[in-house]
Amino acid sequence: MTRFAIFSTMKIICKEAGDHLDKIQIGQTDMYVNPLGLGTNKIGGYNLFPNLDDETGKKVVQTAIDHDVEMIDTAFMYGLGHSEELIGEVFQQNDRHKVILATKGAQQVSADGTVTLNNTPDFLTKSVDESLKRLQTDYLDIFYIHFPDKDTPKAEAVGALQRLKEAGKLRAIGISNFTLAQVKEANVDGYVDLVENQYNLFQQNAMTDVVSYLNEQHISFVPYEPFAASLLTGRYSLDNLPHFEEGDYRLNIDLYNPDQLKDNVAKADQLKPIASKYDATVAQIVLAWYVKNPQIGPIIPGARTPEQLLANVQCEKIQLSDADYELIAKLFA
Ligand SMILES: NC(=O)c1ccc[n+]([C@@H]2O[C@H](COP(=O)([O-])OP(=O)(O)OC[C@H]3O[C@@H](n4cnc5c(N)ncnc54)[C@H](OP(=O)(O)O)[C@@H]3O)[C@@H](O)[C@H]2O)c1
Repeated sequence: MTRFAIFSTMKIICKEAGDHLDKIQIGQTDMYVNPLGLGTNKIGGYNLFPNLDDETGKKVVQTAIDHDVEMIDTAFMYGLGHSEELIGEVFQQNDRHKVILATKGAQQVSADGTVTLNNTPDFLTKSVDESLKRLQTDYLDIFYIHFPDKDTPKAEAVGALQRLKEAGKLRAIGISNFTLAQVKEANVDGYVDLVENQYNLFQQNAMTDVVSYLNEQHISFVPYEPFAASLLTGRYSLDNLPHFEEGDYRLNIDLYNPDQLKDNVAKADQLKPIASKYDATVAQIVLAWYVKNPQIGPIIPGARTPEQLLANVQCEKIQLSDADYELIAKLFA
């Protein structure tokens, strides 16, 4: 028996009898996923983070599959295909159909290593085929254009993905890092199923206009960097500020800029007493806030280790009260 509840036009929940989780519909497709997914830029993403270990990365993916984390979000850019290769290896030991697999492409790497954006139909078609090979699968559940390029008309780029969808190579079309105007241009034929853009408690306002449009159009919104790339996990304090090694892309993120960092850590610290009330960690409370937010689709927090993943999965047990949901929204407004 299946029950549906519409919390907003954005988040359509489906509860299967016997499931302990409410599932979220992806766009208007026939795909439903558990709210908590996994982001994998620390799985094989050696070009973005130093000191990653492939075996640990594969264990994170296996642990996710073992704990009903259905949506796995990767990209060519995470290790220039290496993240996809590692996930493909894990798939060989598992039932592929248990996973809603999302990957992304648009980056063209030239012989000297320069990366340029390319959304042309030919390049996107080739990118999908190459991702399929690295992931050792014959279909992708979701393919995102990772970033818009300057020249390709957006509807032409999405049109190429629509043809791949009709050919059975992918099940849903996503775009990522698109502004509202670019989303509208890309969706002129109504083909876009998901938008993945940066969004977290620190950066809520940036998305207000885009989310309203997605809501109207029944397009799922997948926020990336839900922990603000780790600031919202509760592991820092004014006595213990984050220090990243050379090569960690977080050194370039504004939220971690020395001018803002202490204020941001102090703000995140205000979540600690709320988390204590639930006997939970700040990371779990933050994830529970996104799960309760009716405008947000599946979330894809990154995890570097199986332990982080296992801790994050526990957010599903938290029933955040309406009052605490509002309080958290106000703290970061
Ligand atoms: N579409 C795009 O352009 C785009 C851009 C960025 C990211 N993404 C996607 O979004 C996903 C999520 O973003 P993200 O991984 O960059 O950032 P995030 O989810 O905001 O933060 C992940 C980081 O938080 C820390 N963390 C996670 N769980 C923890 C726990 N239980 N306890 C303590 N620390 C914990 C870890 O930091 P440490 O590694 O320091 O331990 C982890 O790497 C990515 O993996 C990727 O799939 C997409």
